[in-house]
Amino acid sequence: MATIAIENVRKTYPGGIEVIKGLDLSIAAGELVVLVGPSGCGKSTLLRMIAGLESITAGEIAIGGRVVNNLEPAERDIAMVFQNYALYPHMSVRGNLEYGLKNRGTPRAEIDARVKEAARILEIEPFLDRKPRQLSGGQRQRVAMGRAIVRKPQAFLFDEPLSNLDAKLRGHMRVEIRRLQRTLGTTLVYVTHDQLEAMTLADKLVVMNGGAIEQQGSPLELYGDPQTLFVAGFMGSPGMNLIDVAQLRAAGATLPDAVPAGTGVIGIRPEDVFLEAGRVDGPAITLPARIEAVEMVGAESLAYAAVGGLSQSVVLRIPGAWTGHADTAADLHLPLTRLHCFSKETGRKVPLSAPALAA
Ligand SMILES: Nc1ncnc2c1ncn2[C@@H]1O[C@H](COP(=O)(O)OP(=O)(O)OP(=O)(O)O)[C@@H](O)[C@H]1O
Ligand SMILES: [Mg+2]
Repeated sequence: MATIAIENVRKTYPGGIEVIKGLDLSIAAGELVVLVGPSGCGKSTLLRMIAGLESITAGEIAIGGRVVNNLEPAERDIAMVFQNYALYPHMSVRGNLEYGLKNRGTPRAEIDARVKEAARILEIEPFLDRKPRQLSGGQRQRVAMGRAIVRKPQAFLFDEPLSNLDAKLRGHMRVEIRRLQRTLGTTLVYVTHDQLEAMTLADKLVVMNGGAIEQQGSPLELYGDPQTLFVAGFMGSPGMNLIDVAQLRAAGATLPDAVPAGTGVIGIRPEDVFLEAGRVDGPAITLPARIEAVEMVGAESLAYAAVGGLSQSVVLRIPGAWTGHADTAADLHLPLTRLHCFSKETGRKVPLSAPALAA
C-alpha cells in the first residue's frame, strides 16, 4: 500500500481545453477514495494520469513518496481496472491472470501461488480453464480484479468497474470489493456514478466538478453538510430539494430570522420534510402545499408536493406505504435544524446563526 499525493495537477489535452484545473488531493496509504462528479468533469483523466496512461501537463503526482510524473505505467506499480474489463479473449482465465506476472519475469512457483490465492479470494477457481466469453459479467469482473490483485501493486485504480452489471450483482460485488480492499489493505481510488457505491465504499468521498474538487470528506459529511449548492444537488437520490427564496417570498411566505441574510436558496432533504407538525420539535418553516403524486418505491414512498409560487415540486420521503390520498392539501414542515442555506451568487453555504435557531 502507498500514499498518493496529487499537487496542483493540470491537464490540457491537445486542442487546448484545460480539463483538470490545478487539483490537489492527498490519499493515505490503505485508504479507499471514491471520485464522483458529472460526466466529463475529469474523473477518468485524473485516474489515467495517476496510472501513467495520460501525461501530466503541470503539477506533480507522487506514489509512495516517489514522484512519478515521468515514469512509465509499468514502473508505477499500480493496477487499473476498467469498466469494460479488457480481458484477453483468446486466453483462459488462468492465462489472463498470469499474463502480467509472466511479462515481469516472475518465477513460475510464485505465479502459481499468487494465481491460486487470487482465485480463492475471488471465488473463480472453477473457471480458471474457461475463456472470458464463457463467463457471466460478474465472473469476468472478478477475473479483471484478479488480474489486478495478483500483481500486489501499491495501489488499485478502478474506473466504474461495476457499471455493466445488474443491480443485484452490483450489490454483491460492492460488498466483495470493500472486503477485498480491507483484507489486502491496498490503497484504492474508485470512480463511480452510483450513489450507493459512493456512500457505502468510501473512506473519503471526493466530489469533482469541471476539473476541480468541489468538496471532499467522509460520505456522511458530504451528505449531511454540503458546502456548495453543487454538492447539495449532486449527493443523494432523490436529491436535496433546492428552493428559490425569491419565489417563496413572491408567493407571500416569510422566512424566520434564523435564515441568514444573503440566502438565495434553501435546501432540505426529502427525508427532512414532514407532513405532521408533531414529528418536528423546534422551529420550522411551514409551507401550505398540495400533494400531487405519490410513488411507492419498496420500503418507502416518495411524495411530490406543489407549493404555491415554486416552479418545482418539493419531494418528501415517507417511510412505508403512503396511506393518504394524492391530490390533497397538506402543510409541509421544514425543521430549521435540517435546513441548508446557500448564496445564489457564490453557490456557497451560508451558515445558520445558532442564537437565532435557539430563539
Ligand atoms: N483524449 C482526449 N482528447 C481530448 N479531450 C479529451 C480526451 N479524453 C477526454 N477528453 C475530455 O476531457 C474531459 C474530461 O473527460 P473524462 O473522461 O476525464 O471525464 P469523466 O469525468 O471520466 O466522465 P464520465 O463520467 O463520462 O466517464 C471531457 O470534456 C472530455 O471530452
Ligand atoms: Mg470516465
